[in-house]
Amino acid sequence: MTQPASRILGMGHFLPPIVRTNSDLEKMVDTSDAWIVERTGIRERRIAPESMVTSDMAAAAAKLALEQAELEAKDLDMILVATVTPDVPMPATAVFVQEKIGASNCPSMDLSAACAGFVFGLSLADSLIRSGAMRHVLVVGVELLSRVVDWSDRTTCVLFGDGAGAAVVGPAGGAMARDRPRGIMSTRMNTDATLANSLTIPGGGSARPMSPIALEQKLNKIHMRGQDIFKVAVKNLQSSSQAALDDLGMTGADLDWICPHQANLRIIDLAVSKLGLPRDKMLTNIERVGNTSSASIPILLDESVKSGKVRPGDRVLMCALGAGISWGSAVITV
Ligand code: ACO
Repeated sequence: MTQPASRILGMGHFLPPIVRTNSDLEKMVDTSDAWIVERTGIRERRIAPESMVTSDMAAAAAKLALEQAELEAKDLDMILVATVTPDVPMPATAVFVQEKIGASNCPSMDLSAACAGFVFGLSLADSLIRSGAMRHVLVVGVELLSRVVDWSDRTTCVLFGDGAGAAVVGPAGGAMARDRPRGIMSTRMNTDATLANSLTIPGGGSARPMSPIALEQKLNKIHMRGQDIFKVAVKNLQSSSQAALDDLGMTGADLDWICPHQANLRIIDLAVSKLGLPRDKMLTNIERVGNTSSASIPILLDESVKSGKVRPGDRVLMCALGAGISWGSAVITV
């Protein structure tokens, strides 16, 4: 097994203050708490107040990650922000994050891979550090999905929430915990364009620029064929996770935890059981935060580490799938 080149030096997350429960949604659309809990596992989600933008949440999470890493913003060599809900189409949200955390002059850019965004970002950060091109890379997964959800569409509005999670990735430096080298051990990234239309925000780009008609047709909102995603999610999460384990000559039995993207409790339950892992190894917070897309994994991992559930030296498998469809996985030793 090769020694990890990079590791997560610090993490942080931010959840906005407004709690929207299933019973709040019962007053907005034709749905029920029972349906949402049974089909998704979600009981409530967080919503950002009107005054808040995506980069505010990202910066809040990033500051906590830097604090834990005992680094300053000026120590960052790059800022990667994974989001499908940027502050504005141009420039990148990462630019505003750079300003808000006080980082100077480091390349800052966004990465659009929807729910797989954080795992993609972690994989890129690992490659940059492994190659020697960068020392410290900030990877943020952040979404303000409540602004792009059609709150009259019961098939999507019950699923999504807002939030941010951040990790400062740096050289592994031979760090050990419980006789295990700490760091990012393997990553996998995949995209299959054949299901590109299953989950989209169709308007606002060059294909269908914003116009009164586009707004009337709600082309600026999320459009999803949930069943298409559901079927492929279980299969792809399982195969990508297996590939990341195969790269290391490991099996599910070598893992302490699985930290899956919180899309739907049924999807992650099925994927985990197909991997042959017991359910008590699965981390979850979907009940409280819903699907926060690219923010989902870093929020869950940070919560689990800070609560003491996941300990230094634990081996964690992360896996995520979302619009694109793009999916990926990573095995790390915390
Ligand atoms: N409340 C009550 N009834 C509902 C609701 C609701 N909120 N939503 C749908 N229904 C109804 C449907 O209209 C349908 O009614 P019908 O049988 O009379 O036609 C019935 O419930 C069943 O609908 P399905 O779509 O078959 O329900 P399903 O069990 O597939 O659950 C869900 C829907 C939760 C969307 C599921 O398909 C899913 O989670 N898909 C994956 C979503 C996902 O992971 N997206 C990718 C990540 S997000 C990203 O990348 C940004």
